[in-house]
Amino acid sequence: MRIESIRICNFKGFQNTAMTDIPRFCVIVGANGSGKSTLFDVFGFLKDCLTYNVRHALQARGGFKEVLSRGANADDCISFEIKFRMEIAGIERLITYLLEIGLDARQPTVKREVLRYKRGRYGSPYHFLDFEGGSGYAIINEEDFDKQNEQLEREQQNVGKDVLAIKGLGQFERFRAASAFRQLIENWHVSDFHINLARGSKESIGDFEHLSVSGDNLQLVARNIYENYSEIFQQIVEAMKHRVPGVRDVEPVLMQDGRLILNFQDGSFRDPFIDRYVSDGTIKMFAYLVLLYDPEPHPLLCIEEPENQLYPTLLWELAEEFRGYAERGGQVFVSTHSPDFLNAVQVDEIYWLIKEQGCTQIRRASEDAQLVAFADEGDQMGYLWKEGLFGGADPQ
Ligand SMILES: Nc1ncnc2c1ncn2[C@@H]1O[C@H](COP(=O)(O)OP(=O)(O)OP(=O)(O)O)[C@@H](O)[C@H]1O
Ligand SMILES: [Mg+2]
Repeated sequence: MRIESIRICNFKGFQNTAMTDIPRFCVIVGANGSGKSTLFDVFGFLKDCLTYNVRHALQARGGFKEVLSRGANADDCISFEIKFRMEIAGIERLITYLLEIGLDARQPTVKREVLRYKRGRYGSPYHFLDFEGGSGYAIINEEDFDKQNEQLEREQQNVGKDVLAIKGLGQFERFRAASAFRQLIENWHVSDFHINLARGSKESIGDFEHLSVSGDNLQLVARNIYENYSEIFQQIVEAMKHRVPGVRDVEPVLMQDGRLILNFQDGSFRDPFIDRYVSDGTIKMFAYLVLLYDPEPHPLLCIEEPENQLYPTLLWELAEEFRGYAERGGQVFVSTHSPDFLNAVQVDEIYWLIKEQGCTQIRRASEDAQLVAFADEGDQMGYLWKEGLFGGADPQ
């Protein structure tokens, strides 16, 4: 499954803009405040809508008025249109999920929620789910949709006005598209890694299955992989050896007092030494590998500014690892301020954000003839960015 395009209207700084032809690995650059974190928060917002409801997701961000783009009318809707590809009944389909949120009697309400795709190769897309203000229908025999003459059965349903229909329906496997989209959003993950937290907390309690947003449970997750998925742990160690010069081995050791320590065997030291003596860059690379080799990988990963603490040449290695994750079937969005990181990225993997009259616009490097021409001559993207060739990207 891959998200192919996103249109965002009236969500914070995104008044009306779209990101199209999104590859499995893409990188977003832009000045401070241009909207990189907001773009990632589209998924965070949808996840909160799914986990709780629309009202909660809005409240967590200051309320409807705060989230609605400045300059929009109070009766305008915040809306998202996400297109994604997935295989259903042996055919890859382009599925559109549309969500419009507005106020009804001052209460946050799902004004429209639609999931549609084409039944066959031709014809207009079919609405498999269509809700307005808490009531609508879903197709209950979606699995018959490839049999062209089969009648599709609609079932009327009611949900809370601030509840997404895919929240309920997405629990049932037979609602194929709804359940896949729900899973994608629920298992979405943002990584905003803080090196001090990853070093700090050595308490062996807490979530050990997935690395947290800040990376503060790194030791626990590493230990879980080490104890229960030894082949994967070995892959991580191999990747460390391959990516970080001088690293020979990594082993988590549970101390008698319950603390967990990572022993890094560095080529230049005879004895293993604990992570306190390991460089920030080494820990950070290890944390990204733990994230990227997760035994149950996130279908969609957003990574905030991975460049800090990493030596420029390691950024090449990291970009390769992100690409590898994408090739294994995931999708990765990375935000960056680093020309060195961008140097490791292809022209068709790059988007940049600019602000025009307070509104974010999304530009795609591969749609810029000049950038493509330079890329064809072998120029690296980070240099072109520093040269000012990403029009409007620099802070005004
Ligand atoms: N309702 C709104 N309408 C318009 N703009 C908004 C709204 N809410 C927030 N913003 C603007 O969105 C911007 C926030 O952008 P964001 O944090 O996504 O930027 P960023 O690219 O991640 O920056 P950084 O590089 O500093 O992390 C701020 O400039 C803020 O003023
Ligand atoms: Mg940000």
